[in-house]
Amino acid sequence: MFYFGVDYYPEHWPEARWPQDARLMAEAGFNVVRMAEFAWSKLEPSPDVYEFGWLDRAIDVLAGHGMRTVLGTPTASPPAWLMAKHPDAFLTRESGRAVTYGNRRNTSPSNEAFRHRTRRIVEEMAGRYHDHPAVIGWQIDNEFGDRDYDAPAFRSWLRGRFGTLDAINERWGTTFWSHTYTDWGQIPVPLSTGGVPNPGLALDFARFCSASYVEYQKMQIDILRERCPRHFITHNLMGFTYDLIDYFDLARDLDIISWDNYPRGFWNIAADVDASAMALGHDTMRGLKRQSFWVMEQQAGAGGWDVVGVTPKPGELRLWAYQAIAHGADGIVFFRWRTARHGTEQYWHGLLGHDGRPGRRYQEAKRMGHEIARIGDDIVGAQVRANVAMMLSYDTRFALQVQPNNPAFSYPAQFHGLYRALHAQQQAIDIVPTDEDLTPYKVVVVPSPYVLTEATAASLERFVEAGGTLLVTPRAGVKDEDNAVVDRPLPGHLARLCGVVVDDHDSLPEGAVNALDLPGVPGAQGRIWCDIVTPQGADVVARYGDDFYAGEAAITVHAFGSGHAVYLGTIGNDVLNEALAARLLEMAGLASGPPSAPGVERSVRWQGDTRLVFYLNHTDREQVVTLDGGDHRALLGEPAADGRLRLAPRDVAVLAAKEG
Ligand code: GAL
Repeated sequence: MFYFGVDYYPEHWPEARWPQDARLMAEAGFNVVRMAEFAWSKLEPSPDVYEFGWLDRAIDVLAGHGMRTVLGTPTASPPAWLMAKHPDAFLTRESGRAVTYGNRRNTSPSNEAFRHRTRRIVEEMAGRYHDHPAVIGWQIDNEFGDRDYDAPAFRSWLRGRFGTLDAINERWGTTFWSHTYTDWGQIPVPLSTGGVPNPGLALDFARFCSASYVEYQKMQIDILRERCPRHFITHNLMGFTYDLIDYFDLARDLDIISWDNYPRGFWNIAADVDASAMALGHDTMRGLKRQSFWVMEQQAGAGGWDVVGVTPKPGELRLWAYQAIAHGADGIVFFRWRTARHGTEQYWHGLLGHDGRPGRRYQEAKRMGHEIARIGDDIVGAQVRANVAMMLSYDTRFALQVQPNNPAFSYPAQFHGLYRALHAQQQAIDIVPTDEDLTPYKVVVVPSPYVLTEATAASLERFVEAGGTLLVTPRAGVKDEDNAVVDRPLPGHLARLCGVVVDDHDSLPEGAVNALDLPGVPGAQGRIWCDIVTPQGADVVARYGDDFYAGEAAITVHAFGSGHAVYLGTIGNDVLNEALAARLLEMAGLASGPPSAPGVERSVRWQGDTRLVFYLNHTDREQVVTLDGGDHRALLGEPAADGRLRLAPRDVAVLAAKEG
């Protein structure tokens, strides 16, 4: 079943209103609600006193109108009594000071008292709802993430990883500045060290923080799995942009991935929304388990806590929700139902306004609800099949947070720049971890594999040897797993594969560029970082145009086995990224997608041998797409007899075609 619904907070509204809400939801074609993820104080008003009656009634009222429930465990927002009783559970921030009560996500996942209270509430909820016919699944907590400056917990995690202090001293190289540790209690959390900490310690601390959320989540999952075997378990993640948790690790214990998609949050009140940024979020989330996912919070209106965000324009809510579906979503849940009257998120607009009246946003969701009721079964379970993969490494991301190398060097921005260029070529793209089997792909792009294991290097070699086309970008192979610099020429373990040695490099001053001499691509520029590359078997494709290394190699291609490894020694501007994307596809024998229209995204899912083609008009003008012939069954949006598809501003079409 395709799940389509809304995040609902019955505890914010008089019970007498619930039936009207449920009726409006049913009229909109909704079939699911998520509830209770912030309702701890209503569920456990005082220690070990549980009150589930109100939630039972809410679930029943909604079920009476056909709604299934996903229950959130409420642990992102502990009640005031809990924190007053256990003040040591408050999270410490980068300042070294603990937060005070008054927001959420304010606890350390390692704190034993908090973990005890967590287990209790989760056990009680699981016991209450394990066989409720309307409950289908669980969302653990809400948007995990932060640092965990719990020094004893960090040390015990280090013991598990390294075993002995000697191993730590050796692998972190603590002789430097006499940091040699002779007792576990001496190891600091890198809080107020007065400057850049030891890179080995800092990377392991980032890994520990990530692992402590993974472990805290696992603690809840174990309880739910045992008591609610019929229910699925998910967590609402935060897409590509969130960078303090290794999402591949967090995903491992979940049944399905869901995430929160806010193209126009209040933190981004820019006029334009970048469709490729949303697409990257979806592809990253699909990549975590290589399966369909849900959007558990799909923007329903303008964002707003203190500042009010730009309101989504007519058609955008539906367009964004269909874009999610085009990239693999099998569930869409809007956040939130009705705009809250109280609390921090008073201005976070729901489908209904404060006054509870259904307006244009509700009507737009309702339109889509009726469409999904008609076409959801055609879509649900359909796969995205990609020939192109981009390798995402959280170890690299963490290590570059510690030492960005250049103030402008941003792993996510570079990753997005390369993704955007491939996405513009209408390629389906999988986002894969460093240990993924690369056999299914024709092109693999590995932005800055800074922390690189020999195993990953060997897997990339196998991929190219077997005929694959690889792109690697600078700061490749610089560090080992302990964040120590390797003792071999760069790009380290990739030097043989890329057929180059990086003899020198230049970290560019702010705003500086180096014009590249790349035949046929005027305007190609290197930015931020320039590796001065010496080919050792590779052919030179582009040379630097400026500075003392003008004429030296900037981009090379190395024929290796039956494939090719491209080394890009700099961070490209858009012109260069676009040219490279086209070139890589060409080298791999992949046609870029059939022509669409400006600002129209074309994305494909496969239901067996049926191709579902989504056309998404991200512009505020009508666009006309000329279809590529063949028989289409229009699920949404009828093409004209002349084979042209007219898409109104922000409109969507879905066409099905049988292959072969
Ligand atoms: C999400 C969060 C929701 C709500 C929303 C709007 O990040 O999961 O609970 O806060 O943002 O601020």
